[in-house]
Amino acid sequence: MGEEVITHSAEETTQWGREFAKRLRPPVLVLLTGDLGSGKTTLTKGIVAGLGAATEDEVTSPTFTLVHVYGAPDAGKVYHADLYRIESFHDFETLGLEDLFAQPAVVILEWSERFPLQSPWPQLRLKLEHLGGDARRITVSTS
Ligand SMILES: Nc1ncnc2c1ncn2[C@@H]1O[C@H](COP(=O)(O)OP(=O)(O)OP(=O)(O)O)[C@@H](O)[C@H]1O
Ligand SMILES: [Mg+2]
Repeated sequence: MGEEVITHSAEETTQWGREFAKRLRPPVLVLLTGDLGSGKTTLTKGIVAGLGAATEDEVTSPTFTLVHVYGAPDAGKVYHADLYRIESFHDFETLGLEDLFAQPAVVILEWSERFPLQSPWPQLRLKLEHLGGDARRITVSTS
């Protein structure tokens, strides 16, 4: 059983993400799980903004580009990746996500459950669930 919160709008989810960001110290891997449209990218907007790495509007879904990077040159980097469109383990390996772990950063991964990523970093898992309408449950766990 992890900590959980229920939000009732996209704005509440981004606001929760801003607060959650205060707990993050690089290096850390944030694994986002949850169905299509459950709010993974919306939550990431709040986390990235809370880290001061970009504005909410600058954070867009990396569904097609696979990896986005945010952050000022002398601040820590924030990577935001999405494995949804990765079809095979071969494609996953070709992405070279392991290279992201060369320098301490915050790595946020959508659809992380599709492929096992080997990482030496501490991990936090955020599970998002539809509760009907605009309600979402966010559950935090440390695995
Ligand atoms: N409580 C809420 N929290 C988050 N998003 C919400 C909420 N209520 C409504 N929404 C809406 O749900 C949608 C969530 O889309 P978002 O792209 O964040 O989901 P996703 O989990 O990243 O989907 P995908 O798996 O396609 O990447 C947005 O249109 C957002 O405005
Ligand atoms: Mg998304």
